[in-house]
Amino acid sequence: MAAIALDVDAVRARFSALAAPTAFFDEPGGTQCPDSVIDAIAGYLRESNANLGGPFGNSRRSDALVAQARLSASSFLWCDPEETIFGANMTTLNFALSRTVGRTLAAGDEIVVTRLDHDGNVSPWLELAHDLDLTVRVADIRDDTTLDYDDLERLLNDRTRVVAFPLASNAVGTVVDARRVVELAHSAGAIAWADAVHYAPHGPIDVAALGVDVLLCSPYKFFGPHLGVAYVRAELAASWRTYKVRPAHHRFETGTLPHELLAGFVAAVEYVDSIGWEAIQSHERALALRFLSCLPDRCTLRGLPGLDGRVPTFAFTVAGLSPRTVAERLGSRDIAVWDGNYYAVEVMERLALGEEGAVRAGFVHYNTMAEVDRLLAGLEEM
Ligand SMILES: Cc1ncc(COP(=O)(O)O)c(C=O)c1O
Repeated sequence: MAAIALDVDAVRARFSALAAPTAFFDEPGGTQCPDSVIDAIAGYLRESNANLGGPFGNSRRSDALVAQARLSASSFLWCDPEETIFGANMTTLNFALSRTVGRTLAAGDEIVVTRLDHDGNVSPWLELAHDLDLTVRVADIRDDTTLDYDDLERLLNDRTRVVAFPLASNAVGTVVDARRVVELAHSAGAIAWADAVHYAPHGPIDVAALGVDVLLCSPYKFFGPHLGVAYVRAELAASWRTYKVRPAHHRFETGTLPHELLAGFVAAVEYVDSIGWEAIQSHERALALRFLSCLPDRCTLRGLPGLDGRVPTFAFTVAGLSPRTVAERLGSRDIAVWDGNYYAVEVMERLALGEEGAVRAGFVHYNTMAEVDRLLAGLEEM
């Protein structure tokens, strides 16, 4: 069957931000928002702004909006609306949720994380380990940046309580075989705790099919506003004593939610649905193929060399130039890329990329072939 083609010009016409001359390859740090998201945020503040539970129009509309946001999160993650949790961002939610599960842990219990994790899925466990005298073990990667599943299996034992892992690396783009990790975690009696932040703009997430117990993501990485969303499997959530104020209905959310951002989130999920994953993925693959096949010789890619097992996020170094210099020179040509370690501390250490890290270019479906060619020309002429 032929892949569904993406009309990238029609897509870009939906984003005022993409009228700028900038080629945005900073997607792993956050995506641009379509106008529908911006309008939804402004529209909420104009027409519905209020706190919840009041017997008047704006408050009733706010109640309905929060209910709709849970429905949108549940359709995005394929879970029950009651299993969704909103917060400031992934990291803040992860500190809160890890602290909550910490109430069920005891000194000597163990947590496994991976070298592919962003620090947002590592430091919450290190801090919990500090408080509770737990042990945190780090599953290694193989030289090609894929997760070393044998090493992960070796680290599991009858004290392992949580296995924390990413669906995809925000540094090198490697995708993790989540089902395999979940099986390993569950066979050890541990909770499978997934960071979906980097994967979310690139493919569908079905928490039930993956079998994860906890999953976190950030709508600002998939065309929405700065916000965090988490899923906790209902039976697991029910077994935890949460940190909450007594009158609050939701067991995990503390205080008033950013309603206007929830309105933007609803519009972001509608936006993704309106494009469809098949069209998104076939366009991303075409961009990635061009980049990988035309990368200048003086650039060294750090990560999988082909399209399989990865999302189109590329970390690379350029001979004779620091990553910062490369990013600055591209920046002066209005090409937005990142440099450094992007908080992916473990993988960058493992790849011996040290303090300077690498250049990172991340593609999403709104990028064009012409932009990829501009990036390649910028690297060639550096
Ligand atoms: C893979 C991954 N996990 C976690 C985070 C942290 O997300 P947030 O900024 O929502 O805390 C990021 C942010 O870049 C990320 O890329």
